[in-house]
Amino acid sequence: MKNNSFYAIKFEQDSLSFIDQTKLPFEENYIKTDSFEIIADAIEKLKIRGAPLIGIAAAYAVALAFKGNLKKSDEYFQQVIERLQSTRPTAVNLFHTLNIMRDKFNSLSEDDDVYKELLNKAIEIEKAEIFYSEKIAKLGLNIFQKKSNVLTHCNTGSLAAADYGTALGIIKKAFEHNLINIVYVDETRPLFQGLRLTAFELEKYQIPFEVLTDSMASSLISHNKVDLVIVGADRIALNGDTANKIGTLSLAIICSYFNIPFYVAAPSSTIDKNIISGSEIIIEHRGAKEIYSFQDKLIGKESWNYYNPAFDVTPSHLITGIITEKNIYRFPYNFINE
Ligand code: MRU
Repeated sequence: MKNNSFYAIKFEQDSLSFIDQTKLPFEENYIKTDSFEIIADAIEKLKIRGAPLIGIAAAYAVALAFKGNLKKSDEYFQQVIERLQSTRPTAVNLFHTLNIMRDKFNSLSEDDDVYKELLNKAIEIEKAEIFYSEKIAKLGLNIFQKKSNVLTHCNTGSLAAADYGTALGIIKKAFEHNLINIVYVDETRPLFQGLRLTAFELEKYQIPFEVLTDSMASSLISHNKVDLVIVGADRIALNGDTANKIGTLSLAIICSYFNIPFYVAAPSSTIDKNIISGSEIIIEHRGAKEIYSFQDKLIGKESWNYYNPAFDVTPSHLITGIITEKNIYRFPYNFINE
């Protein structure tokens, strides 16, 4: 299912255009820039978001930092990398693609056209991610036993990854194969990626959906309304423990209690081969304002204390299967040789 009516990012005319996701679903506002600083800021503020997409955008940002015949400078390259690394700590795809860009940079000589070489690498990264999205979507069809009611959390579609997306990519592909009755969409507090972004995408694709607040999922599942749950991932440890948007862990626990299949879908670039288990994943904590205010209107007192982790970690034994572009893996997971 190709989408022609919107895009999350597009590299054209030596600039990156991106849709400002903080304005969705009401404004489809595109920003065009050739400034790596503006892209870094957009990632920090979630104008560009979703693990695979952050990685791709960061690769283009590194290339753009050298636009205008800039010569190879190790010191400047390091500054660019550090600025991008500082934007968001949890999604490993950012660090993964920055490492690829570093390897490319280190392989260049003083006489090379640094911008052109880095840009070609960024384009290669994006193409690979598009290919992975399509493979994940196709492979994901195998988890459907029948036409199903699916629940998903956060946004994992074209606004979060290359092209199809991951979990939402599978859902779109399954819809094309007449395997979807309805998609239940967790609103995903506090930034509403489900309500604002997943609903936006599903409407564009004309896939039937219903939005619920996160706390309603257990009630819905207890009434036998959900056949399976599919979510994305921001970082997967070697043992399969998975960091994803806050609220994913409670969904996995509910699924385990009610014996509902709970799947994670992600490109293999989301697997962090440097960590054995989820306890090593750094979780981003965001400002209290995201909880106590809504569209700049106070809904709680600024002076109170707030807890706002952006992600949680689901232990691997609660995950029925992890779908990458390569395979559908089952517990016990061991990604060391993947
Ligand atoms: O904070 P966000 O909106 O960047 O978080 C996104 C998620 O948690 C997604 O589920 C994850 O990145 C997978 S996207 C294909």
